[in-house]
Amino acid sequence: MPEEKLRVIGIDGGPRKGWNTARAVGEALEGAAEAGAETSLYRLWDMNFKGCASCFACKRRESFLRGACAFKDGLSPLLDALKGAAGIVMGSPIYLGDVTACLRAFWERYIFSNLNYDADNPSVMKKGPSSVVVYTMNVPSEAIPKMGYDALFRLHAGFLGRLNGDFVEQIAVCDTLQFEDYSMYHAPMFSEEHKRRVRDEVFPGDLAKARAAGRRLAGG
Ligand SMILES: Cc1cc2nc3c(=O)[nH]c(=O)nc-3n(C[C@H](O)[C@H](O)[C@H](O)COP(=O)(O)O)c2cc1C
Repeated sequence: MPEEKLRVIGIDGGPRKGWNTARAVGEALEGAAEAGAETSLYRLWDMNFKGCASCFACKRRESFLRGACAFKDGLSPLLDALKGAAGIVMGSPIYLGDVTACLRAFWERYIFSNLNYDADNPSVMKKGPSSVVVYTMNVPSEAIPKMGYDALFRLHAGFLGRLNGDFVEQIAVCDTLQFEDYSMYHAPMFSEEHKRRVRDEVFPGDLAKARAAGRRLAGG
């Protein structure tokens, strides 16, 4: 019998195809595939779904849905695909100091249904997927504490840790190139020359980190 491959799911929470976030998620998935995993990519922006409806079906005493979101919409195929996955790589640009609305909406549905209101037994999943989150942002890395993003990342790591995967890894991709041609936009606080230098000299290293994290998700 051929051995079943580990599955690693990529979730792109950014709207722009081919830009910073999409490239980092793609790179992590390539790393996972390199390490032998079966990979698939979901672009939340293209999916028609909402955040948690607060129906509490996942918390009902008699519910057989415990650990799974009962609400059926365009997110359901992804929630189904996540069952039994070994790893998830999620990417999001930072929008107004947090992940995008669609990644948050996904987390509300996926993470909340796994949380138990039971201090002794806080997660439904005894062993869930390991996770990698790639955050892309305009601010340089040294501004992360000042912006409070380090606290944000700790908060996210706490929720994702409740999935009981082997690890949660977070990668901050900072000072990203935001426009192809800065001369077309009013953005005097940014230097295009500096942004291009970061793109050429730092971004490849960020992609390499994402690729290595993808390999780890696949047990590599
Ligand atoms: C609506 C919006 C809000 C943003 N808010 C922030 C922010 O709070 N902090 C930050 O560092 N960058 C912010 N950015 C910049 C993006 O996070 C950054 O350009 C990111 O790399 C974009 O990812 P992408 O190239 O994959 O689209 C914002 C961009 C948009 C469009």
